[in-house]
Amino acid sequence: VSQIGVRSLSKRRALEISPELLTTDLAEIVLNPNIDIVVELLGGVEPARSLILQAISCGKHIVTANKAVISRHGDEIFTAAKQAGVYVLIEAAVGGGIPIIQPLKQSLGANRITAVMGIVNGTTNYILTKMQTEGADFDAVLAEAQRLGYAEADPTADVDGLDAADKIAILASLAFGERIPLKDIPCEGIRHLSIIDINHADNLGFVVKLLAIASRPHANDALSVRVHPTLVPKTHPLASVNGVYNAILVEGEPIGQVMFFGPGAGAGPTASAVVSDLINIAAILKTHDRNTGDPDEPALNPLLSCPHDSFSKLAPLANLKARFYARLLTEDSPGVIGKIGTCFGEKRVSLESIVQIGLRESQAEIVVVTHTVREGDFRNALTEIKSMSEISDIPTVLRVL
Ligand SMILES: NC(=O)c1ccc[n+]([C@@H]2O[C@H](COP(=O)([O-])OP(=O)(O)OC[C@H]3O[C@@H](n4cnc5c(N)ncnc54)[C@H](OP(=O)(O)O)[C@@H]3O)[C@@H](O)[C@H]2O)c1
Repeated sequence: VSQIGVRSLSKRRALEISPELLTTDLAEIVLNPNIDIVVELLGGVEPARSLILQAISCGKHIVTANKAVISRHGDEIFTAAKQAGVYVLIEAAVGGGIPIIQPLKQSLGANRITAVMGIVNGTTNYILTKMQTEGADFDAVLAEAQRLGYAEADPTADVDGLDAADKIAILASLAFGERIPLKDIPCEGIRHLSIIDINHADNLGFVVKLLAIASRPHANDALSVRVHPTLVPKTHPLASVNGVYNAILVEGEPIGQVMFFGPGAGAGPTASAVVSDLINIAAILKTHDRNTGDPDEPALNPLLSCPHDSFSKLAPLANLKARFYARLLTEDSPGVIGKIGTCFGEKRVSLESIVQIGLRESQAEIVVVTHTVREGDFRNALTEIKSMSEISDIPTVLRVL
C-alpha cells in the first residue's frame, strides 16, 4: 500500500498506519505514477466518481465497494475503463463478503441466467426478522436497529429499498449483459408493512422479505427488475436468511438454482471482497509482466494454475475435538447410568446429557451426548464401557455438529 487518502489525519484508527502513508490530497493518489491500482472506499457519488474517472484516465485499475457510484455512473466509468484498457472490479459493492460478482462473471458464465433474486440489504432484513419473530411494529424495531447501529440515523436508503435497487441494478447488468437504467427500477420499501400482514402471512406459511429481483424467464422476454416486499414460502431457501445476513439466488439454464449466503456488510467481510479484487488484478498484471518477459518461461495466471506442490499432513481422527452421540443397550438394573457416567469422567469425557429413553426388547436404551471432547478419549471410554457385563451393545455412535 503506497498511499491512503483520508478526510482527517488526526483521527484515531483501529489499525496502526505509518503517518507518512496518509494524505488528505486524493488527487495526489490518482496522479501518482507509481500507483497501479486505486481502491475507492470513500462512499457516496462525489468526489468518488471524479476520482475514479481521473485514475482511469491515468491508466490505473480500480477496485471499489461503492454501489451508489457504480449503479448511477457505471455507464461512463466502464466505458472510460474500456477505452483506457484498465479493470474496474466491484466485488464488495453487492453482498459485502459474499462472492457474487466474480461467480456471475466467471463460474456461471456458461449459463443463460433466468433470474437473480436476493436479500441484499441487511438493515431491512434485520427489521423484518424482528417483526416476524417478536411481533413488534416497524417503528419500534427501526428505533432499536438505530440504537444498535444496524440502521442509519436517516434510514431512507435502506427502508425505502433504494440501496437494494442500486445492488440489483449491478447484479442484473452482470447477469443479463446489459446496462440497467436505475431510475426505471420500480422500488417499494418496507415502511408501510404492518405486523398484521406479517402475522397473516405467517399463518398462511410465508415470511415477508424485501427482495431485489431481476428476471427474464425466456430469452425473448423483456427484462424485469424490481424491489419490493415479497411473501416467500417458508420452505424456500431465502425464507431462512435472517437478521443482517444477505443471500442471492441465481437461476440459470443448465445449472438450475444456486444460492450465495453470507455477511452482507461489516469491516472483515468487505475487506475480504476488496482484497480478492486486488489479488485478481495483481494476478493478471503478474501474468502479463511474465508474458512480456522471458519467452522460455511459460506464464500462468497464479489464480488459475495450481501453485502449491507439497502434501498436507492430515490430523489423525483420534485428535479430533467434537461432540458425540451414542446409543447404548444395557441391562435394566439400578446403577448402570452411574457406572457409564463414571467411566466417561475417568477418560476426560464430559457429558452434556445421559438419559434412559425407554426399553427395547427388555433392554434399557440409554442415549449419551458429550460436550466437545477428544475423539481418542471418547473411543477409549466406549471400549471400556462395552466390556462391562451390563452393556449388551452400542449400536450407534455419531458426531454432533
Ligand atoms: N461498511 C460496510 O459494511 C460496507 C459494505 C459494503 C460496501 N461498503 C461501501 O464501502 C464504502 C465505504 O463505506 P464505509 O462504511 O467504510 O464508510 P466510512 O466508514 O465512512 O469510511 C469512508 C472512508 O473514506 C474516507 N473519506 C470519505 N470521504 C472522503 C473525502 N472526501 N476525502 C478523503 N477521504 C474521505 C474517510 O476518511 P476518515 O477516516 O478520515 O473519515 C474514511 O476513511 C461505501 O461505498 C460503502 O457503500 C461498505
